[in-house]
Amino acid sequence: MRTKKSTYSDSHIQEDETHNSESISDDYAEDIVDKREQIEKEQKEDTVMNNTKESLTTISEQSQINDLTNLEIQDIEGIGPTTARKLREAGIFSVMDLAVAAVEDLAVDINASKESAASFIMASQKLLRESDVLDKEFITAETALKKRRSLLRCSTGSSMLDDLFLGGIETQAVTELYGEFGSGKSQICHTMCITAGQPIESGGLNSGVIYIDTEGTFRPERLEQISSTRSIDPVRALQNVAVCKVYNSAHLELIVKNLGKYIDDYKAKLVVVDSIISLHRAEFSGRGTLADRQQRLNSIMHKLLRISEIYNVAIIVTNQVQSAPDTFFGDPTKPTGGNVIGHASTYRVYLRKSGENRIAKMIDSPYHPYSEVRFTINEKGTDNLDEGKKSKKE
Ligand code: GTP
Ligand code: MG
Repeated sequence: MRTKKSTYSDSHIQEDETHNSESISDDYAEDIVDKREQIEKEQKEDTVMNNTKESLTTISEQSQINDLTNLEIQDIEGIGPTTARKLREAGIFSVMDLAVAAVEDLAVDINASKESAASFIMASQKLLRESDVLDKEFITAETALKKRRSLLRCSTGSSMLDDLFLGGIETQAVTELYGEFGSGKSQICHTMCITAGQPIESGGLNSGVIYIDTEGTFRPERLEQISSTRSIDPVRALQNVAVCKVYNSAHLELIVKNLGKYIDDYKAKLVVVDSIISLHRAEFSGRGTLADRQQRLNSIMHKLLRISEIYNVAIIVTNQVQSAPDTFFGDPTKPTGGNVIGHASTYRVYLRKSGENRIAKMIDSPYHPYSEVRFTINEKGTDNLDEGKKSKKE
């Protein structure tokens, strides 16, 4: 396994060198395009997104998700048989599908104005609220706290790393793991494929997992090894994970668009996208295409965020790093994708190597302390440091 991984890492070293040799001014250009184009776009989108976010804060009980099967698209105010047919043709079959749709995509898909698309989405969310599937627009802080306490957390496989997330990676959130090659992003994702299937009392989500592999680095043998060394039945563990190998950015966009359906099909509470940016980065490399790339990534990320909230799932996205030439102090690396990925992620975690160990640092979170923790990678996947070794070194 290790040999396999190191061959793979070697190929990434070369890739990484190629990335680094992209001229630094390209990185700057990325930022400038980000800042200018994004501000305009986000201002426009924020009106819709704020409404969406406000009304999609949380979903309280899993049982409520099941009730959704009773709701039909035609139950939505203002949607008649013709619109319902157009929506079906666009792949939107349920009220949930419509509630998580993006305004611009929907307008194109059903050949309607953005205003109509927005009104259909808002009406679907209204129906979900009236059916008590979504929170009312305003809830008391006390209720909000109760709901936060009821969200689920999935263990990363290392209790030391779990501490960074105050007990594990949360549902109703998008967690971004970024770091250089070999820093452990994919290993955390592999380990969580196993932990997510475990009962809630054992730190799992008692659920299926959807693994979207854009880099061709998913290794079922590794899952087998991780589950066996953790005394978990590997056959059942592997049956629990639905993997989708994605070859280009349009394919990724399509998968994300239909993610709600896959989440239902595979009863998933954990969705992994490893990695979120590699395909877009490779395909939209010219300067003239940066704005388009950022817009597409923005749309994917916001869709993921809405899905995490509405379906009560934990979503992990991995991201690469690039050098930041304007950093004078500290680590001159930053996540790729500019502000687009960071803005839509609920939590951002920076991973780096430290000898045989790994360090994870919470970079951006609405309420976690900005702390860092150490963990290691071994046969069990992500694991706690051997305390004996740790104290010898310190
Ligand atoms: P990129 O995808 O290349 O950006 O990197 P990444 O952050 O996803 O790296 P990944 O999670 O794949 O970590 C690779 C590292 O994990 C290797 O360099 C090894 O140090 C370690 N590793 C991978 N597989 C094994 C294994 O079976 N046993 C042990 N002990 N370590 C492993
Ligand atoms: Mg990886």
